Amino acid sequence: MFGLRQLLIAAICVAPFTFAPLPLGAITPKGWLQSQLRLMADGLAGHEYEFYRYVSKSSWLGGSSEYSDLHEGFPYWLNGIVPLAYSIGDDKLKAQIKESVEYVLSHQADDGWLGPETVSSGLRNLWARYPLLLGLTQLLEADQSYESTVLPAIRKFTDLTQNMLQDNGAGLLPRPGDHLSDQDHGWGRIRIADLILTMQWLYENDEEAKQDQLLEIMGMLRKGGLDWATWYTDKQYIKGDLNDADQAYVEAWFPFEHGVNVAQGLKTGAVINRFEHNQTMIDMARRAVDWTFKYHGSTSGTILADERLQGLSPYYGSELCTTVETMYSLTYLYQALGDRDFADRAELAAFNALPAAVLGDWWSHQYVTQPNQPYSVTLNKSKGLPFWNVNEKGQTFGLEPDYPCCTVNHPQGYPKFLANSWVKVGSDGVGHALLSPSSLTWKLDNGAQVTVDANTNYPFSDNLDYEIVASKDFTLHVRIPSWSKTASWSYSGPGDKNEGTAQNAEPDARTGLISIPVSAGKSTARLVLTRSIETISRMNDAVAIMHGPLLYTLDVGYHATSSPPKWYNSSADVSGPLPTESKDWEIRNTTSWNMAIDTSTIQVKSQDNSGNLPDEVWSRGAVPIHLEAEGREVDWPLWRGVPGQVPLKKNYLSDRRPITLVPVGVAKIGMVELPTL
Ligand SMILES: *[C@@H]1O[C@H](CO)[C@@H](O)[C@H](O)[C@H]1NC(C)=O
Ligand SMILES: *[C@@H]1O[C@H](CO)[C@@H](O)[C@H](O)[C@H]1NC(C)=O
Ligand SMILES: *[C@@H]1O[C@H](CO)[C@@H](O)[C@H](O)[C@H]1NC(C)=O
Ligand SMILES: *[C@@H]1O[C@H](CO)[C@@H](O)[C@H](O)[C@H]1NC(C)=O
Repeated sequence: MFGLRQLLIAAICVAPFTFAPLPLGAITPKGWLQSQLRLMADGLAGHEYEFYRYVSKSSWLGGSSEYSDLHEGFPYWLNGIVPLAYSIGDDKLKAQIKESVEYVLSHQADDGWLGPETVSSGLRNLWARYPLLLGLTQLLEADQSYESTVLPAIRKFTDLTQNMLQDNGAGLLPRPGDHLSDQDHGWGRIRIADLILTMQWLYENDEEAKQDQLLEIMGMLRKGGLDWATWYTDKQYIKGDLNDADQAYVEAWFPFEHGVNVAQGLKTGAVINRFEHNQTMIDMARRAVDWTFKYHGSTSGTILADERLQGLSPYYGSELCTTVETMYSLTYLYQALGDRDFADRAELAAFNALPAAVLGDWWSHQYVTQPNQPYSVTLNKSKGLPFWNVNEKGQTFGLEPDYPCCTVNHPQGYPKFLANSWVKVGSDGVGHALLSPSSLTWKLDNGAQVTVDANTNYPFSDNLDYEIVASKDFTLHVRIPSWSKTASWSYSGPGDKNEGTAQNAEPDARTGLISIPVSAGKSTARLVLTRSIETISRMNDAVAIMHGPLLYTLDVGYHATSSPPKWYNSSADVSGPLPTESKDWEIRNTTSWNMAIDTSTIQVKSQDNSGNLPDEVWSRGAVPIHLEAEGREVDWPLWRGVPGQVPLKKNYLSDRRPITLVPVGVAKIGMVELPTL
């Protein structure tokens, strides 16, 4: 299925990636990342098919539980559970995938439609098929036994999609007889890139693909979709806080401001460019990332959008779905365009925003995470909420706080990060694009069969040790993160003249990659990065503290209490039986959070460079890294039940005293943006 065909046609119509992705299954996790995926499989993600109503009783599987007319719960789950199951080789999850996919395929409509909607229901909206197909194409990459069933079903659905779109955009555009709101149509129109991805996957991987048909569908989606290029212009884009802008204007551009849309949409320019060969799209993709993070970004690597973009205030929230979609878009952008910045940002979100929003055992998650969030409790609604459209439980941890989408969509985060962490570089190289512990087994286009084990505690350590076995010479490329101002590498193997001497790493300015020539046989390579404290300026003269890839937050203590999971939209308990580990949590500070920091006093107290990390590495106290500094309590009023803007005028309430900062991924609660002394 893969191979020659890809080489022949890629050059003709679909522009090649800078670094082509590898199929799901080529990369397996090691070290802490393997433990995380195992915890996910043993936690909420891996049990949803058994107990979570929007998966187990989904209308896709003969039930009737859906949280909206979009019917996206099961498709989102499939898109994340496939890479999870196949990355760690989990037989239970593979069996669940088999059973559910067989059900969906055996209920394919005569006309090719996939999913519960009938023509007469008036609910045929293409959108939920986008994540379904992303799940199915990953399945085809990882498990060839599906080729004879899944591929024909996708082809039939593709024929239908062509017919529907030719019929005045049915399934995409509002039409008479639809029972869908304009907004429901909006999801499919703003997220077209996620369906175009599958059309391009077929184009490159399906030997029976009808290329003209696929190109026509891509073109029709482009035409019927909303054009991000109209938004990312100096004239249209809102560079300030949306609450300060003209509200009619803000409302008119809503699809472009919705957080998950923005996250999914970041990749759109690069996706469209592949068939449109349009420099405007490439420029737009870069601008989209720059502006989104400059004007609406959190230092943890995600987007501040509590349902909709707001601005940079430290009490705005970031949705977990937005974080995992941001990670996926950024990894795609690195593969498509090769800019180092995209990979830096993907790692930032993976090591900070994502773990900050999930408890260490992977059973409970937040809907939104705030940079300054010293407690995670049910807020008092009658005082008003700091969010645009997130309820009073949005910042608590639980089964489905605020809305179920993050419950079903969060599983894609680390599995897709892993699956995209290695890339092809030319015909004789592989690249470690996203650093983390993993193992790659791959046959390069030049015929070299290679296995590369990346042994590392990164991002908790600065050293990466590679063990390599290769049947022929090849080139190992490794990305040096931008924060590592200096780095060195060494190599020892057959025919090595330097005998393992360390050399300065001189990364390519655009891609951040260094090249290490590797000889056939067994060899080893070592990369040593250098992290230092970095102070990031935020709103109201506040600072956020980074140390290499990790963002730190003020340690405010941690007192957690749990209760049975509640419905996202009522105070009723979710009816069981539920796994006992599934709980809703409130977490409170046990020390003061209203601190100003003296940045000149920051000291790195400990750093773990070797040894085994605990399984629940993103839990309180799990990693022996923290920072110490001096701070003073300041008067810091609440706003709508949470810490308000960072105070500009500092009214000190205490003398200097020691304060501790810990990585946001382990802290769960804390204060990232602090005033300075
Ligand atoms: C909560 O949402 C479900 C759909 O997911 C709906 O059936 C139910 O009526 C809603 N409950 C309340 C109290 O609004
Ligand atoms: C490139 O994209 C821009 C923005 O969407 C569009 O206006 C233009 O027509 C496109 N050019 C081509 C050649 O498709
Ligand atoms: C919530 O806030 C309102 C208005 O300030 C107040 O009257 C009420 O007592 C508060 N409720 C709780 C549970 O604190
Ligand atoms: C939580 O922080 C606030 C503000 O600093 C403080 O007043 C309160 O005492 C803290 N809670 C505990 C239990 O220490």
